Amino acid sequence: MNANEIRQKFLKFQEKHGHKVIPPAPLVLENDPTTLFTGSGMQPLLPYLLGQPHPEGTRLTDSQPSMRLQDIEDVGDPRHTTVFEMLGNWSLGDYFKEEQITNYFEFLTKEIGLDPSRIYVTCFIGNDKYGIPKDAEAAEIWQKVFKKAGINAKIAEIGSAKDGDQRGIKPGERIFFYDDKENWWSRGGGIETTPLGDPCGPDSEVFYDFGEDKQDVEKYGKSHPASDGARFMEIGNQVFMQYKRNEDGTFSELEKKNVDFGGGLERLAAAAMDSFDVFKISLMAPIVAKLEEMSHKKYDNNTDEMRIIADHLRGAYLLAAQGLMPSNKAQGYALRRLVRRAVLKALDLGIGQDFLPEILPVIEENYTDLSDDILPNRANVLAILTKEENAFRKTINKGVKELQKMAQAGQTITGHDLFKLQDTYGFPLELSVEEAYKIGVNLSKDYQAEFAQALDAQRERSKTASKGMFKGGLSDTSDQTVKYHTACHLLLAALQKEIDPSINQKGSNLTPERLRFDFNIDRKLAPEELQRVEDCVNTWIAADYPVFFAEYDKDYAFDALHAHGSFRDRYPDRVTVYAIGFGVPGDTPDTIEQIISMEICGGPHVAHTGELGKFKITKEESSSAGVRRIKAILE
Ligand code: ALA
Repeated sequence: MNANEIRQKFLKFQEKHGHKVIPPAPLVLENDPTTLFTGSGMQPLLPYLLGQPHPEGTRLTDSQPSMRLQDIEDVGDPRHTTVFEMLGNWSLGDYFKEEQITNYFEFLTKEIGLDPSRIYVTCFIGNDKYGIPKDAEAAEIWQKVFKKAGINAKIAEIGSAKDGDQRGIKPGERIFFYDDKENWWSRGGGIETTPLGDPCGPDSEVFYDFGEDKQDVEKYGKSHPASDGARFMEIGNQVFMQYKRNEDGTFSELEKKNVDFGGGLERLAAAAMDSFDVFKISLMAPIVAKLEEMSHKKYDNNTDEMRIIADHLRGAYLLAAQGLMPSNKAQGYALRRLVRRAVLKALDLGIGQDFLPEILPVIEENYTDLSDDILPNRANVLAILTKEENAFRKTINKGVKELQKMAQAGQTITGHDLFKLQDTYGFPLELSVEEAYKIGVNLSKDYQAEFAQALDAQRERSKTASKGMFKGGLSDTSDQTVKYHTACHLLLAALQKEIDPSINQKGSNLTPERLRFDFNIDRKLAPEELQRVEDCVNTWIAADYPVFFAEYDKDYAFDALHAHGSFRDRYPDRVTVYAIGFGVPGDTPDTIEQIISMEICGGPHVAHTGELGKFKITKEESSSAGVRRIKAILE
């Protein structure tokens, strides 16, 4: 049974049990200040889990493409992926633990044919500090369910995952109690980190046993379900949303208790084919086979590289097919990072040019089942990602050439040199070290410390420089110049909206008479495009949006607010963010309702866009390679 069949089977099974199939939410989230991507099936359902009635009723199901970028460093093992499909079912104040546990066990054993004697489960041990009791109810239901299948399931109290690594499991044990790090679910993780106002509760996870020989006891300790070892694989999580975290940090019971079930389709498909490795399933195996063909290397000897490439490119495909463009902004940057990491690993395998044009069609083939509503931009994926690949290859080649020059000069390469390569050419440290070994140059043995030193020194310099830079090309602060400054922010936002979301500011210059604005794009804009940009800015001026600003930590400004800023590495740790959009007095950039523009900037700006008058583009010309220049006036 392949992954596409399991997805169908799950939705049919849930329909038979009274659930309505709902369409999945987009993977790429717009204007959500808390997160960049949909990371679970429950995320789009948050308001309903907190009590708002759902138009489709109290029993829902779907298959939600999800992305967990936080798992990126774990990719390479047999089961972690950044992107996955989460099969989900929900009870919104309808059925609770008994029906959920009984049905899921039936689905696993009867519908996809898993062996009941290889199923192990975990439950929540309770938490004294917050007065939350042990979930004995779930454990008792599990005992009943196993008994019906002819299995006498013993219960064991483990505590933390570390305790489990020490203790292991004893014969007959099948139901295990763990602490809140393992068996409490909220969008923030454990009990202490549950976000205020969020629904949460104890969960019961389901595992499949692939045999003791998969464990690697030396590395991971004795085997038990919550171990990082490969013996047990989680194939489903049933969250019993009984609680809500109050604003004062305490927990209270929800009036209507919900079930939030999520199970990774890829892992279920792996279990169904009795493979402890998810990269063997139908959605992955063709990618791996293509990599073997292109590299003339075997998967078994190159699992890490091939898994990383397969995962990252599948993720990149799904993101780009939804319409995301590679850029230096938060979400676009995640896409850029996936492509770059995949290209680097391909180099390790000896795959050079034409990597993406050959491999993307294989990935595309897996998703012909998904509708155009979910992947509206799929026709353009190849062109967009290949362009990104080529740009990155140029960067790499320049870096390698520089390194070779240094080698020829016979010099010892220091961390300062490597820093310069990264700073000037974007040639990553990791790669230059590897390349240095390959070429056989003398690498200073203190290169890491030297690199860190160079980085610190640059940060210091930029702190001083940024004081001046933040004036952002303002030659004076007369009222007219301030208006032009705000117009620049609207212009950038209009270019990103109308032409290409990956457009960045490359420079600006303002006088009381006009603005000059440089931005990256590798072609001339058509008159009709310039008209659209001009109209867009004028619409925003006419809407008379207020301008908001506040100070934030730099990382928060970039990663949570998605503020635009061209020089991330050069800004100080605290920055001012200016936002233009719909909000009310007292709002700040992170609380406004509608965002037109969000930029890191030192100001000053007008208070309302209506003050700007009429915006008119007077000229569009080339500035330098890949950079165009617009001149505009306010009438
Ligand atoms: N929302 C739960 C999870 O992501 C099911 O694991």
